[in-house]
Amino acid sequence: MRAARAAGKIHLKRLSRITIDRKSNSIDLVTEADRESEAAVIELIHRAFPTHAILAEESGASAHQSDHRWIIDPLDGTTNFAHAFPQFCVSIAYQRRAETRFGVIYDALHKECFTAQRGRGAKLNGKPIRVSATPAISSALLATGFPYDRRERRRFYLAYWEAFMMCSHGVRRTGAAALDLANVASGRTDGFWEFGLKAWDVAAGALLIEEAGGSVANMDGSPLDISGANIVASNGKIHAAMLRTLAETRPEAERRHAAMLEEEAAQKSRL
Ligand code: IPD
Ligand code: CA
Ligand code: CA
Repeated sequence: MRAARAAGKIHLKRLSRITIDRKSNSIDLVTEADRESEAAVIELIHRAFPTHAILAEESGASAHQSDHRWIIDPLDGTTNFAHAFPQFCVSIAYQRRAETRFGVIYDALHKECFTAQRGRGAKLNGKPIRVSATPAISSALLATGFPYDRRERRRFYLAYWEAFMMCSHGVRRTGAAALDLANVASGRTDGFWEFGLKAWDVAAGALLIEEAGGSVANMDGSPLDISGANIVASNGKIHAAMLRTLAETRPEAERRHAAMLEEEAAQKSRL
């Protein structure tokens, strides 16, 4: 929690003077705040636990193996941050023998610190939180996000948006996956799905949801694999309906993606 608060302090300090670089493509951004907050988190953890392994978004995995591993997204919601849109946080998880034992997600701007300890519940600023009691997807508020290949696969992702828009109260895209998961854990939304997330996006948030009484899984319903996270997360009550919608939408999403590729190829050959 101390490391999360140190990162949050850097987010707030950097918010008024943002420098933007690009990573995998023109919409995959990184700022000084990402790098600086990651260095601060790693330094604090390293000082307290010099032998533990670390997996961090900007600097990768530490070379040595250990039963103890820290998984860090120093700034989740970088695109929001780069535009000073107020939805971003730091996410830190601690794993022992590949099982997440502790997670913290800190939104410094709203002064909200979500924490979870396996077997001991989830909290927001020290007070216990629970997932929502929404009984059916027809009355659910859902959230999702789009990975950085969203332009290349837009029709695929949007098919799911359309399917969930048609069966719920609405769908939100906040731009910070860790906060999306914290929102499910605290009952602000009822469910969330996203393709292609990374371990640092979901490790802490998945534990928060489990400890708040909700469910997390891979989109095919199997136990969540955080390293290849096609994640569905919910209050538990709407879980089966979300999994069904995902499965039923897949053929149409693939058909639309294939049609888009054909259209683009035809367009190119006309040029
Ligand atoms: C991104 C955010 C976003 C999600 C992307 C993530 P970053 O993380 O969580 O909401 O849609 O898939 O990569 O790059 O801001 O740490
Ligand atoms: Ca992230
Ligand atoms: Ca990040």
